[in-house]
Amino acid sequence: MENSEINLDIEKISSLCKRRGFIFQSSEIYGGLGSTWDYGPLGVELKRNVKDHWWNQMVWERDDIVGLDSSILMHPDTWKASGHLDSFTDPLVECKTCNRRFREDHIDSELILKKSCPEPGCNGELGEARMFHLMFKTFMGPVEDEAAIVYLRPETAQGIFVNFNNVVTSTRKKLPFGIAQIGKAFRNEITTGNFIFRTREFEMMEIEYFVKPGEDEEIHEKWLDDCMKWYESIGINTQKLRIREHDKDELSHYAKSTYDIEYNFPWGWGEIQGIANRTDFDLKSHSEMSGEKLTYFDDQTQEHIIPYVIEPSCGVDRAVMALIIDAYSEESTVQANGKSDTRVVLKLHPNIAPVKVAILPLSRNEKLTPLARNIYDQVRKSSLISGNVQFDDSQSIGRRYRRQDEIGTPLCVTVDFDSLEDNMVTVRERDSMAQTRVLISKLPEIISEKL
Ligand code: GAP
Repeated sequence: MENSEINLDIEKISSLCKRRGFIFQSSEIYGGLGSTWDYGPLGVELKRNVKDHWWNQMVWERDDIVGLDSSILMHPDTWKASGHLDSFTDPLVECKTCNRRFREDHIDSELILKKSCPEPGCNGELGEARMFHLMFKTFMGPVEDEAAIVYLRPETAQGIFVNFNNVVTSTRKKLPFGIAQIGKAFRNEITTGNFIFRTREFEMMEIEYFVKPGEDEEIHEKWLDDCMKWYESIGINTQKLRIREHDKDELSHYAKSTYDIEYNFPWGWGEIQGIANRTDFDLKSHSEMSGEKLTYFDDQTQEHIIPYVIEPSCGVDRAVMALIIDAYSEESTVQANGKSDTRVVLKLHPNIAPVKVAILPLSRNEKLTPLARNIYDQVRKSSLISGNVQFDDSQSIGRRYRRQDEIGTPLCVTVDFDSLEDNMVTVRERDSMAQTRVLISKLPEIISEKL
């Protein structure tokens, strides 16, 4: 069964993620901290593969984008100039009966008209909406006063804008060019939920792509295409993706136009990426606030111009969540004893799967184990294979196959007693379960061809 036919709820996904070591509730032993999550041994591999794949495609494979890693804490004037101090708010309403708080724009419009609480079983009256600020505040240094307030960045973008001159001077990049950054962002969201979809601490992969004014609209369109191709390249079913243009009243304070890439999650369409035309808003505001001119010298016209910016901004955690949901499948099988069984398979694309290959000796044995360990070393140290390789000799081989299927390992290599005689092993493919006998000496080449 593909995942469109499965009754797939967040419970099913979050319990698989916990059981197999993808994602754990943060600070679980203390009862957990709302909407913060920790990536376990497999989750960290998956997330890392997503980020590496994005970096390879967006930075290494192009000659018009360079990278940056700016700090999370920035001068507080940054947020005055960017407009976040004034405008980064959401409308909050509170129920007078149950005292729960909600984002007004996430409540059904009929309930808003009736001023009725959306909490099931509570028909309490909602109070007036007030604007709630989303930036986390802290203090820098030992004195906790107004002058020491700094903010945890709510987007990585501003680190790019304030470094515009540094990057242009050090790289001599010509327009159009981009600066890419991957890093944490923090938002004190009023409501969180749907597992890792809406959290207060999350990671972003952002590009600020600087263009000549007038070329912005065409380049914006091109970016929609490039971003969709990226999702396709990590194996997301493009039938479950759509591009939605923001209505005028939805646009952020800096945007001339924005398109969201949305994925059809089990609860409906949800944004995984925004692609905005930020015009010259940010460079202009930072120039005014700092007194430092953030301009570009156009050799052709011999003029200083303020470039426009196209910004593809993707949430790493939302991409990971879409990937896991998209890859989840269940297959019913009938065993030899007549009992029916369900095989859960994460059909992750090999280039992002957390484990690429598992080496499985048929059983723990004084001859088989050393041979399997040698093969494990040969495969994981091979320059032909990049990624995580696992060795597993616990429980029956059938159970081990199921475990690897459930975590999305594309290939298993089984070392059996014949291997001691014929120097061959069995390569099993996750999706088809096809098994091929191959020479141990050829294993790295064969694996790299299949991945
Ligand atoms: N610099 C542009 C920007 O911040 P955004 O649409 O607010 O734009 C970009 O955020 C992406 O960050 C979203 O498409 C989403 O994937 C992710 N994101 C935003 N808020 C999030 C949250 N609370 N939890 C997880 N991911 C979030």
